[in-house]
Amino acid sequence: MSTEAVYMAPNAAPKCPFDQPLVNPYERPNSRESSESTVLDILGEDKVELLVERFYHYNLTDRKTRLFFQGVNIERLQRMQTTFLIHLLGGKQMNMTRMRAAHKRLLDLNDSHFDAMLKNLTKAGKDLGISSELRERILAAAETTRDDVLGRNSAHEVAQQRRR
Ligand code: HEM
Repeated sequence: MSTEAVYMAPNAAPKCPFDQPLVNPYERPNSRESSESTVLDILGEDKVELLVERFYHYNLTDRKTRLFFQGVNIERLQRMQTTFLIHLLGGKQMNMTRMRAAHKRLLDLNDSHFDAMLKNLTKAGKDLGISSELRERILAAAETTRDDVLGRNSAHEVAQQRRR
């Protein structure tokens, strides 16, 4: 899987101080202060990939979400989502700017679409036999992205407004 497009180059200086990777308060990627295993440790990258595949099966057939994906390169999107979930569930850091920009292009995207996606994520987890405890952790991690996905007061935007 090619990831060079989304990971920050190790020595690249961010253009804006808020172009930092999101630190997920639930899974705390790259932090090993806690002895608890991350979801990624438990599931492994292959299972996360399968989860995303199943998740997209639902997103593309669900009448609440499917229209947003018309004309989108789904194979590429699934790769990006896998990278993203791996990040959220305890993997490498990544730059959030492109993810925010991609959703800004989607007109009328709102909480009901986000909620529908969370339901699809739950269904996908159930299909793969992921335990309810782990499913809750996955949902909690996805939930931390809500304001970024819906373009509400992301740290990035606040920084830009301050500069104006
Ligand atoms: C759990 C919440 C979500 C996460 C973590 C997420 C993550 C992502 C990521 C990583 C990308 C790729 C960005 C890039 O091109 O670099 C993306 C694109 C996209 N997302 Fe989401 N997303 C979420 C919610 C949603 C929702 C609720 C919808 C619509 C129902 C949606 C529709 C799309 C579409 C259509 C694209 C492709 C846009 C384009 O290529 O122009 N996403 N998302």
